[in-house]
Amino acid sequence: MYFWLNRFMHDIEVQNLVKTFREKGKVITAVDGISFSVRKGEIFGLLGPNGAGKSTTINMLTGLLEKDSGTVKILGFEPEKNWEFVKNSSNVATAYSWLSDVLSIRQNLRVYARLYGVKNHEQKINELLELFELKDIGDRKIIRLSSGENTRAVLCKGLINSPKVLFLDECTVGLDPDIADKTRSIIKGYQQKNDCTILFTSHYMYEVEELCDRIAFMSDGKIISIDTSSNLKKLIKKHTVEIAVKKDVKLLKEFLKTEGVDIIFEKDNGIVFEVTTEKDKMYKIISKIFHKGFMLSNLHVKGPTLDDIFIKIARRK
Ligand SMILES: Nc1ncnc2c1ncn2[C@@H]1O[C@H](COP(=O)(O)OP(=O)(O)OP(=O)(O)O)[C@@H](O)[C@H]1O
Ligand SMILES: [Mg+2]
Repeated sequence: MYFWLNRFMHDIEVQNLVKTFREKGKVITAVDGISFSVRKGEIFGLLGPNGAGKSTTINMLTGLLEKDSGTVKILGFEPEKNWEFVKNSSNVATAYSWLSDVLSIRQNLRVYARLYGVKNHEQKINELLELFELKDIGDRKIIRLSSGENTRAVLCKGLINSPKVLFLDECTVGLDPDIADKTRSIIKGYQQKNDCTILFTSHYMYEVEELCDRIAFMSDGKIISIDTSSNLKKLIKKHTVEIAVKKDVKLLKEFLKTEGVDIIFEKDNGIVFEVTTEKDKMYKIISKIFHKGFMLSNLHVKGPTLDDIFIKIARRK
């Protein structure tokens, strides 16, 4: 029963949230009346082009910015009215780090541990430094860290109070592919172990796809669409086909033109073209190419990606 109810509980609820800034007499609407809910235990991605309003949204949800209007509830409570509770049960890690440059990683984490009232904080700090492979440099000042080390130090800060709701704003920026992969595993592992709810922003589509259960696309302060990545990808009704032949590339090009496909580019003996995902058109064209006796040296078919969706939405203006 509890499990069943749990599925319908929302740890983050946002209704008609608005934030404007004033600059030289001009009004900038950074967040323009957005509404969304994140279920308990869900990893929810907030995507969108630069300046879409993602960080402004997170800053309002974490109490760093005052909202103009709208309602926000974290774990069922409005942060303004229940700040101690919301602060102690949530946390944020962002590439735009607020760790003190002149303190070491360990000293920074001690400050935050006190702020959040973490019990056994030395043990917790050691566990986090171990988890993010920072133990050997725990006493190094933030200013001397590489960008990837700094990013991991910020993630330690984000998990210091074992939050139930975690906000991650571009928290994997600057990580090398190996550490980025490990970091995603840590985030996923933490989420599963603690049934934590995560609001996540990133410009790396593959990690959004790997981590997020649902995605909200933001553009110009508004939410354009909320769905799973597989449903969003269905909005793009094109396969991209990369094909290379041992000879007769001109004949292949002429044949493809008669089939009415969109040729994107051609190079040496290869052609890249787009074909609709509808009515098995791609399979029909490829089987015709075989039947016509073209000698293929390469064939690669790529379905729609989250990048395609991102570009489509970003250019929709
Ligand atoms: N303090 C401020 N004063 C004026 N304008 C601001 C301020 N903070 C943000 N903005 C503007 O609000 C808009 C949204 O900014 P925001 O940082 O939320 O975007 P974002 O989606 O996080 O972008 P990015 O992907 O680049 O991080 C931008 O046009 C930005 O210039
Ligand atoms: Mg941002």
